[in-house]
Amino acid sequence: MEKITVIGAGNVGATVTNVIAHKDLTKDLILLDIKEGVAEGKALDIWQTSSIHHFNTRIKGVTNDYLATKGSGIIVITSGIPRKPGMSRDDLIKTNASIVKDVTEKAIKYSPDAIIIVVSNPLDVMTYAAYKASNKPSRKVFGMAGILDTGRYRAFLANALDVSPTDIHAWLLGGHGNTMVPLPRYTSVNGIPVTQLLGKDELDKIVERTKMGGGELVDLMGTSAWYAPGAAAAQMVEAIVDDQKRIFPVCACLNGEYDEKGVYLGVPVKLGRHGIEEIIEIELDKNEKKLLQTSANAVRDVMKVLDDMKIF
Ligand code: NAI
Ligand code: 2OP
Repeated sequence: MEKITVIGAGNVGATVTNVIAHKDLTKDLILLDIKEGVAEGKALDIWQTSSIHHFNTRIKGVTNDYLATKGSGIIVITSGIPRKPGMSRDDLIKTNASIVKDVTEKAIKYSPDAIIIVVSNPLDVMTYAAYKASNKPSRKVFGMAGILDTGRYRAFLANALDVSPTDIHAWLLGGHGNTMVPLPRYTSVNGIPVTQLLGKDELDKIVERTKMGGGELVDLMGTSAWYAPGAAAAQMVEAIVDDQKRIFPVCACLNGEYDEKGVYLGVPVKLGRHGIEEIIEIELDKNEKKLLQTSANAVRDVMKVLDDMKIF
């Protein structure tokens, strides 16, 4: 059970820390934030639930103290700002890219062998930024989005079909944005194709709602979600710590897979002790391929803003 560090003690960072603690994945969990006292306070608050929830994970909160993160096996990066009303997409990219670069460089100095999971938005490009800043093999640097997005898709399907969400198996590819590509053809209820259970119109509506799933919550709450994002990131940590070799949609660096190169995009991967152990290429029809290409191009547009910053 090695040390795990979560950087950023905001809504998502505190939630992922809480879920990791509940799962008892480590004895040594560090929560780091730049704001004085915030990580310390949230870590203490979570630790004070240990006797209630019966876990032994020791959580330590620190303010910008990277020495405390030394020797981490996994680093989860959630630092950065969520998009606020009136903020341009470029402003968000520029602010978060600088933060992600800075925290990655500092963290990797003390934990050169760590696997990095990025959560900060815009996800696909921030994962690329962490990859560049860390100088690590891409199989050790990847992003969380697909588990969250399929989680939303599965929840909507469970409501529409009135079945358990745990019986729904669903796939979704592409970037973490409105161009993501849910795949009804690869979605089933315990093996029964969902296309046999729901009409096309209803399925189309669910696919559209999934694509806008993040925005729906921003509209409701004035900031982005954290319960499902935190749980999704913790599920990735669990797959790595326990060497589960789970097959998840993960934001991974493509090197020719799906005819894409040099871009981070959501695809099915095998996740285990060594990080991404395999990128799985599933068969896509002409339309699905086109949608994935559109999504890759949308990610490339955001990458251009990062390139223009010339920070790498
Ligand atoms: P938040 O504002 O609640 O928390 C962000 C935290 O990062 C703050 O506590 C802040 O002090 C900290 N921070 C900022 N600069 C830092 C630095 N240099 N070093 C250490 N800590 C620093 O935001 P929230 O809701 O937790 O979201 C975090 C990020 O995750 C956002 O970029 C958001 O868009 C993204 N997100 C991504 C999702 C995904 O599916 N990949 C889902 C939900 C959120
Ligand atoms: C979400 O999908 C905004 O990425 C954030 O909730």
